[in-house]
Amino acid sequence: MIAYWNTTYVDKESVCISPDDRGFLFADGLYEVIRSYGGRLFRTPPHLERLGYGAVHLRLPTTDFGYLSEVAVELLRRNKLEQSDALIYFQVTRGAAKRSHAFPVPQPPLTVYGVANAFDAGPALKNMETGINAITVADQRWSRCDLKTTGLTANILANQMARDAGAQEAILVRDGVLLEGTHSNFMAVFGDTLVTAPASNYILSGITRMTLLELCAEQGVKTEVRPVFAKDMHQATEALIMGTTVEVTPICQIDGKPVGSGQPGPMARLLQEMLTEKILRG
Ligand code: PDD
Repeated sequence: MIAYWNTTYVDKESVCISPDDRGFLFADGLYEVIRSYGGRLFRTPPHLERLGYGAVHLRLPTTDFGYLSEVAVELLRRNKLEQSDALIYFQVTRGAAKRSHAFPVPQPPLTVYGVANAFDAGPALKNMETGINAITVADQRWSRCDLKTTGLTANILANQMARDAGAQEAILVRDGVLLEGTHSNFMAVFGDTLVTAPASNYILSGITRMTLLELCAEQGVKTEVRPVFAKDMHQATEALIMGTTVEVTPICQIDGKPVGSGQPGPMARLLQEMLTEKILRG
C-alpha cells in the first residue's frame, strides 16, 4: 500500500515515525477522514477547511491544507482505488522534538501522513437499513470537541461501552444534552422537525451533518438547531446518527428503550435518499 508521508509517496510499511513525534507523545495533532464512492471523493474541501480550522486553533505553523485534495486523488490512483469505495485518512502532527509541553523551538516540520484504504460499505449499509441500538454515556471529553484532534481516548472508551452493552454507538451527554456520537453527529425528530445540537465547542461540526442541514433547507424539511435534552427523548419519533462512515443511520433503541416505533422512520429514509442523491450529483 502506498502512503503519503511528508511530501512523498512511499510504501506504507517503510514509513518511519519518530517516537518523539508529538502525535505519539501528546496526541498533539489533527486528523480527517474523507470518503470516496467508486473513486469519487465526497466533499473534500470542507474536510480540509476543518483541518485548517483545527490547525489555527492548535497554533500549527501551517494552516492551509488545500493541497491535500490532490494528494487524496493521487492516493486513490496509486492504490488502484479509482473505482472502489475507500476512506482517505489524513493526520497532521506538530512534528518530532524532545518532549516538552510547550511548543518546540525551533519548530520542527509537521508530520503529515495520508493513506487510502478500501472501504467495505456492507456493514454500514446494513445498519442504515435496519437501524442500530445506542446507549447514552456521560461525555468525558475536553471542551474543544470542535477540533478533530487525535486525542480520542474518551470517544474510544464510550464506544467500547456501547459495544459491551450490545449497542453500536454511544451518544455523549453533557448537562442533560444529547450532543453527538463517538464518531458521528446526532439528530432527533420531534413532530415534523429535525433537531440537532448547535455547532459549538462541545461537538465536532460534521461535514455530513452540515450537508444534511443544507439539503433540508433547500428541500423545505424543517430543522431546528438547539439542544436535544435526554429528558425529552420519550417524545422523539426518530433518532439518527450521521457521519462520513455511517452516512445516515437510524437509531432504533437508546438505553434499551425504543425510539418512536422502534423502527427506522420516514425522516431517516428521506435523509438517506437526499444524501445518496447528493453523493451521486457530487
Ligand atoms: N469521525 N462527531 C465526531 C466525534 C466524529 O468523530 C465524527 C467523524 C463526526 C462526523 O463528522 P463527519 O460527518 O465530518 O464525518 C462527528 C470520523 C469518521 C472518525 O473518527 O473516523
